Amino acid sequence: MSDRVFCTLLAAVWLALCVSATSFPGMNAPGLDDNYAYMPEVQSFPGANAPGLRRDASDVASSSSASTGPTFDMNSGIEMQLQTSEEAAPDVVYTTENGAPYSGPYDALRIGSNGPLLLQDYHLTEIFGSFDRERIPERVVHARGAGAHGYFETTNAEFCNNYTMMDMLSENGLRTPITVRISTVGGESGSADEARDPRGFAVKFRTRKGNLDIVMNNTPVFFIRDPAKFIHFIHTQKRHPQTHLKDHDMFWDYLSSNPESNYQVMRLFSDLGTPDGFRHMHAWTGHSYRWMKADGSWVYVKLYCESMQGVKNFTNAEATTIQGSNPDFATQDLFEAIEAGNYPGWTVYAQVLTPEQAENFTFNVLDLTKDWGCSLVPCVEIGKFYLTQNPTNYFAEVEQAGFSPSHVVDGWTASADPVLQARMFAYSDTQRYRLGVNSLQIPVNAPIVPVANFERDGSMNVNGNQGSRPNYMSTTSPIKLVNRTWSYDSHQQWIGGAVQSLSEVTEIDFVWSRWFWNNLTETDQQNLISNVVGHLGQAPTKSIRERATAIFGHINYTLGEAIGAGVGVDVVNLTFPEHSKSHPTWFNRTIHSDSSTLFY
Ligand code: HEM
Ligand SMILES: *[C@@H]1O[C@H](CO)[C@@H](O)[C@H](O)[C@H]1NC(C)=O
Ligand SMILES: *[C@@H]1O[C@H](CO)[C@@H](O)[C@H](O)[C@H]1NC(C)=O
Ligand SMILES: *[C@@H]1O[C@H](CO)[C@@H](O)[C@H](O)[C@H]1NC(C)=O
Ligand SMILES: *[C@@H]1O[C@H](CO)[C@@H](O)[C@H](O)[C@H]1NC(C)=O
Ligand SMILES: *[C@@H]1O[C@H](CO)[C@@H](O)[C@H](O)[C@H]1NC(C)=O
Ligand SMILES: *[C@@H]1O[C@H](CO)[C@@H](O)[C@H](O)[C@H]1NC(C)=O
Ligand SMILES: *[C@@H]1O[C@H](CO)[C@@H](O)[C@H](O)[C@H]1NC(C)=O
Ligand SMILES: *[C@@H]1O[C@H](CO)[C@@H](O)[C@H](O)[C@H]1NC(C)=O
Repeated sequence: MSDRVFCTLLAAVWLALCVSATSFPGMNAPGLDDNYAYMPEVQSFPGANAPGLRRDASDVASSSSASTGPTFDMNSGIEMQLQTSEEAAPDVVYTTENGAPYSGPYDALRIGSNGPLLLQDYHLTEIFGSFDRERIPERVVHARGAGAHGYFETTNAEFCNNYTMMDMLSENGLRTPITVRISTVGGESGSADEARDPRGFAVKFRTRKGNLDIVMNNTPVFFIRDPAKFIHFIHTQKRHPQTHLKDHDMFWDYLSSNPESNYQVMRLFSDLGTPDGFRHMHAWTGHSYRWMKADGSWVYVKLYCESMQGVKNFTNAEATTIQGSNPDFATQDLFEAIEAGNYPGWTVYAQVLTPEQAENFTFNVLDLTKDWGCSLVPCVEIGKFYLTQNPTNYFAEVEQAGFSPSHVVDGWTASADPVLQARMFAYSDTQRYRLGVNSLQIPVNAPIVPVANFERDGSMNVNGNQGSRPNYMSTTSPIKLVNRTWSYDSHQQWIGGAVQSLSEVTEIDFVWSRWFWNNLTETDQQNLISNVVGHLGQAPTKSIRERATAIFGHINYTLGEAIGAGVGVDVVNLTFPEHSKSHPTWFNRTIHSDSSTLFY
């Protein structure tokens, strides 16, 4: 009887005894060879099919010394685990982390009926070792969010090609796979997702020329134009160092002493501050970015994403009720819409200003507290995106997603906006901490195009670490370099010396707020007033309530009076310097203010 027949017979007996013969993890390991005659008892162990085993009996017989044998594929393990992640529970066998089948997920080994546990119980020590480390640091801001995948489709390449060499925008109909994460800002990972807060809106475009992250908010402006203020601002929106409570004094102390925030505050305390879920709101880049062409020419650009679902807000009362009854409302709404095939979509518009136009534009294009507005600078449709695919695993695909304004591609780059410049550093920096130095190797973050450079090693390096390629600029095995795609010479020219304060507040800082206020319906105005009164009224310190009211009064006196009446203070009239009429351009405007904070 040949070995083959013997084994086949044994296998038949074994198969009869064990109905789930194909349900062992190792069965589908790469390198599995039909010619290999498995011993049945061997076959019942996952590792029997592992790559790199001897292939036939003659090899066994002749191998009195080392032979080359099949080459082991170092990635077969990670590939097997990626594949296994997609299997349904009934198709997989319980194993320990090293892949050994284990029979007792509920078992702890103990001596006798009342004895202590055993250190040899590697299963128990392993499951606690893993459980004890399940949490990673949550995002320092935007910790609460939901995400989904989908695609972006370019619809106006004719326009885009005039201003940018971005590959993604170069052809109509070109679809780029995206991952989107929508978030609140101040709350912790488990906080209610209908809180009054701006919403983050981050998009990762997996383009043919690398990943582009556009990290937006559901508002065209922001609270600050000086990045150093961000930490102060965020701390006041989070918890008090002693009470660990959200603190209304802290909140309004900051906002009332940094009045350049006033337009963002108006938007936040209108009903736009409590959108109906994540689908019914628009998103804006806020900052000016730059579109560049290969010849070195460039324009300032802002993107605006208009919800195809339309804008829907909750009133403060509705939002408060929902936060209590379902703190996961927005997360659930997004997931269920996609699950039902009701794919949310956004139309993307671009606004463009040449550097010359920007110089003469009413608002400083590098000031994040100022909008451009579609009525001032035309919004031109350039594409659409849809969310069509829910994550299979939230942690893997949403929590571990790392978006960074510094993930740019040819044709899209930062402007000199100081807040954007700071963000170019902060995101990748925090992700090296939150996810590790190799966070771009995590599947959701990994570019779908080749990565080749001289960055190596580091914790959790799982992508092959660029193999045996030189880890330096070798002359004997040189890496290929693309030609520089744009010219440095025609970049920006800088005027003036270093300026310390970016936050001197002048009359122009109230223009957008007044427009916003005057464009609201009477109902929306009343809601804004009651939203502010309900919140500001809880700040115990009278001078803080007074200062905040004065700023609202400076936007519109009727508004200030209504708020003052609601929170028990009189309206103090403020004066701010006129925005210099003799120097309508902001480009070489020198700011002399010593203090970036308003005290009075
Ligand atoms: C100085 C200003 C800012 C700094 C230093 C800053 C910093 C950060 C940091 C450290 C994170 C956490 C990132 C992570 O853990 O992966 C974050 C998240 C985020 N930020 Fe900012 N931020 C600033 C302003 C802005 C502005 C102006 C916008 C929008 C226009 C914005 C939008 C977002 C979004 C959408 C997220 C969440 C990204 C995600 O879903 O993972 N931030 N920010
Ligand atoms: C692109 O630029 C060309 C040449 O300046 C111009 O004729 C054309 O109208 C522009 N197309 C769009 C869509 O802006
Ligand atoms: C949302 O709130 C804004 C600001 O108050 C308002 O202009 C808009 O009409 C509101 N939309 C809905 C559908 O409530
Ligand atoms: C800016 O406006 C001034 C005054 O209207 C004008 O003289 C100047 O040419 C403009 N500059 C540019 C670059 O358009
Ligand atoms: C890069 O530039 C050099 C010199 O101008 C040229 O000879 C070469 O063909 C360019 N390479 C590519 C890939 O365009
Ligand atoms: C409404 O807002 C627009 C800018 O979006 C502004 O041009 C217009 O003057 C505003 N209307 C009023 C009455 O302020
Ligand atoms: C202030 O707001 C009220 C209420 O909308 C309006 O009637 C009034 O005209 C506004 N004041 C100014 C100076 O725009
Ligand atoms: C403050 O300003 C309002 C509106 O401009 C004015 O009616 C009021 O008299 C002023 N109050 C004082 C004390 O100057
Ligand atoms: C602004 O810059 C221009 C160009 O450098 C210069 O001619 C002009 O004098 C500057 N204006 C002021 C007010 O500094």
